[in-house]
Amino acid sequence: MKSIKVGLLGIGTVGSGTFNVLKRNQQEIAARAGRGIEITMVADLNTERAKELTNNEVEVVSDANLVVNNPDIDIVIELIGGYGIAKDLVLKAIANGKHVVTANKALIATHGNEIFKAAQEKNVMVAFEAAVAGGIPIIKALREGLTANSIEWIAGIINGTTNFILSEMRDKGLDFDIVLKEAQRLGYAEADPTFDIEGVDAAHKLTIMASIAFGIPVQFDKAHVEGITKLQATDIRYAEQLGYRIKLLGITKRTDAGIELRVHPTLIPASRLIANVEGAMNAVLVRGDAVGETLYYGKGAGAEPTASAVIADLVDITRLATADPEHRVPHLAFQPDAMADTKILPMAEITTSYYLRMHVTDQAGVLADVTRILADSSISIDAMLQKEPADGETQTDIIMLTHKTQEKNVETAIAKIENLATVVGKVTKIRLEELN
Ligand code: NDP
Ligand code: HSE
Repeated sequence: MKSIKVGLLGIGTVGSGTFNVLKRNQQEIAARAGRGIEITMVADLNTERAKELTNNEVEVVSDANLVVNNPDIDIVIELIGGYGIAKDLVLKAIANGKHVVTANKALIATHGNEIFKAAQEKNVMVAFEAAVAGGIPIIKALREGLTANSIEWIAGIINGTTNFILSEMRDKGLDFDIVLKEAQRLGYAEADPTFDIEGVDAAHKLTIMASIAFGIPVQFDKAHVEGITKLQATDIRYAEQLGYRIKLLGITKRTDAGIELRVHPTLIPASRLIANVEGAMNAVLVRGDAVGETLYYGKGAGAEPTASAVIADLVDITRLATADPEHRVPHLAFQPDAMADTKILPMAEITTSYYLRMHVTDQAGVLADVTRILADSSISIDAMLQKEPADGETQTDIIMLTHKTQEKNVETAIAKIENLATVVGKVTKIRLEELN
């Protein structure tokens, strides 16, 4: 059978990895796909570099429209990024009857509903394995491997850049800015690294997973997004003393009241496997009602790990291209007419445990005042750490871990604690998940 023809849009980090892996493993990949998969056309703004990267073996153009409008191309791989030109090109490719593979989580998390609808109308596939956790086949696992389960929750370290920063800061005592530059040099960080450090990239990925897990439309605008820029080294240290690690986690949970969808720094017990995921590695913990917990670990970024997922999608599409569209795996796991409109909970209504750090005047009655306020808000204390004031100091830190409670209770209590004359400055609040 003749090869399936692929057009590549953007030959940067992931694009060049995809080109190289496809070329290196072409025979094995063809043996699996049932026919050859051949990149015949590449579009990139920098055509000279693109020609060099492809050894002048394919047609290189600067205008990506030439690829999406080329009738000889069967599959378009979008690896430009962002939701500007990338969205236009993906929609044009679909309108022209081409299947699409993308690693663009920003695009899928914000415009996925529109893109999948357009694809369904044209009977084409849009595959996005590489958009979540790079090389880890988590989309496949959620959409197919765990299809028997009612998914209860997902908790993931799904941004390599921030995990790398947190690991390097903790292990080597390096400064935030230095580690971020290194993550950029290694190709982990997004074109705009604020997406990484402010939690936006993780929220894009979490939004996609929540959709597949719970059969809801992608709703990035309803996600709670909090990054690591306000995290203090003091809290990383205190967390360690209490037996916890702080990770930037993406958490989505099905509850009776609705779905939690949140990204924020989180204390997790140091003894959990996922707490020991270091550097740019990613891990996703999924709890299904039948299977229990399953953990997926691997490289979440970088040229070839991400290419691994892009090519897996190419193979899937190649295998299914001639299948009856109704027998393909639905984009978001559930049949389009069986999607739910379950409410995404506002943060005030989520339930979790908390780490609270307050700086207080070291005098009799302070602790009693704080614990009374917590009790008044029905918050029960799980553990406490009180530091001795340093020599000559009259103020010290108190750290409390709470049992599970609603976020609005904690907010009410914090406002009252901050009003106490003996409490200095703001209370630091970090959410805590036991993940069991
Ligand atoms: P890069 O910036 O390395 O590559 C993007 C490429 O697209 C560049 O070569 C760029 O050219 C080119 N480009 C930009 N605009 C156009 C255009 N209008 N037409 C044609 N080419 C264009 O990005 P990455 O490879 O890192 O990321 C690509 C996508 O993959 C993004 O969506 C990203 O979020 C996602 N992703 C990335 C991962 C990673 O590890 N890097 C992991 C998982 C997903 P120029 O450089 O000249 O601007
Ligand atoms: N910037 C992303 C990260 C790339 O650091 O994880 C992979 O999506």
